[in-house]
Amino acid sequence: MMPTSDAPLRILNVVGARPNFVKIASLMKAYAATDAIEPTLVHTGQHYDRALSDVFFHDLAIPKPDVHLGVGSGSHAVQTAQVMTVFEEVVIGRRRPDAVLVVGDVNSTIACGLVAAKLGIPVVHVEAGLRSRDRSMPEEINRVLTDALSDLLFCTEQAGVDNLAREGIDPGKVFLVGNVMADTLLAHRERAEDSAVLDRLKLTAGSYGVLTLHRPSNVDEPAVLTRIVDAVDAVQMTLPLVIPIHPRLEAGLMLAGLHDRLPAMTGVRSTSPLGYLDFLKLMANAKVVLTDSGGIQEETTILGVPCLTLRDNTERPVTVEMGTNQLVGSDPGRIVAAFRDVLANPPGGAIPPLWDGKSAERIVDKLVEML
Ligand code: UD1
Repeated sequence: MMPTSDAPLRILNVVGARPNFVKIASLMKAYAATDAIEPTLVHTGQHYDRALSDVFFHDLAIPKPDVHLGVGSGSHAVQTAQVMTVFEEVVIGRRRPDAVLVVGDVNSTIACGLVAAKLGIPVVHVEAGLRSRDRSMPEEINRVLTDALSDLLFCTEQAGVDNLAREGIDPGKVFLVGNVMADTLLAHRERAEDSAVLDRLKLTAGSYGVLTLHRPSNVDEPAVLTRIVDAVDAVQMTLPLVIPIHPRLEAGLMLAGLHDRLPAMTGVRSTSPLGYLDFLKLMANAKVVLTDSGGIQEETTILGVPCLTLRDNTERPVTVEMGTNQLVGSDPGRIVAAFRDVLANPPGGAIPPLWDGKSAERIVDKLVEML
């Protein structure tokens, strides 16, 4: 990894799915502020709908991808294999990058990390070390494998550093830099306040909750989804709930024969998936957020908004230990009790160390120093 000249470092950055776009936005901005890095952006096409992809590029002013692999949906094996096949061709066909940078834990992350590692190109993983210790989550497999083959690992929280040490990863490759999602949130918070989403949904600040669901363990299992919908029914009688519907949730509701239930609840406002600025405004002004997303657990901690996570574990423990997050699983009794409790006693919560808006700058400095 010795520099051969003063030429800028050629970093090939990979994005594929919605949470990746939020993370790369801050890195692309930090690259633009230095001459030391020449970035290339590759979009695998894992997410392709306007609402899951283009709107994020627009809201976050992410440069248009240099290469779009156009892979799309499929089973895990098909999607991962197709990303690998097309990505390998693209990497071989271009001037060799000095590193491939992947973010998060989606199928595009492991697919491109694996291709780069086998081509002998250093792999950089942003958001390394997070572990739910739940191997039934596809993301957990992606995290463990991506970290195992990465040459530089950037962590958002100390638990990530500790997990990597436990797995025998050389601590000299691991850096605690904070959270690039926090960078993006802090940089867009003011602009998000201009969003008209509350007017559009006829809501006033502080008078509603937000629910998002898309984990396979919640939405692909009819029995689990039915229990969660029962909880939603109870919650919406006390507080109106906005539910942006992820395509996987929509499919799950159909499969479970539940598609008529949400529209029948007078307190529920279903919408299509929202863009970044609209969703940030919606979260920032919510009384409570219920979710099974990873990123939203972190974003609510930054915003100081109570978060009930409809899972039994989290790979982001700092949001529970320091932030506003609480794990409540999928049992309706437990969800509703926790909901009542947070309304009565909203948690305090602090911002985790280094979630200060400067994480992408720290990453860029380390890339220049280490590569
Ligand atoms: C993926 C990530 C997950 C992340 C989530 C954010 C993996 C294993 N999972 O899950 O970690 O939290 O993105 O949304 O990588 N679909 C569309 N339009 C699209 C993309 C997908 O309608 O633009 C539909 C397709 O029917 C597809 C389904 O959504 O089969 C699921 O998409 P997929 O990319 O496989 O996984 P997500 O559930 O979105």
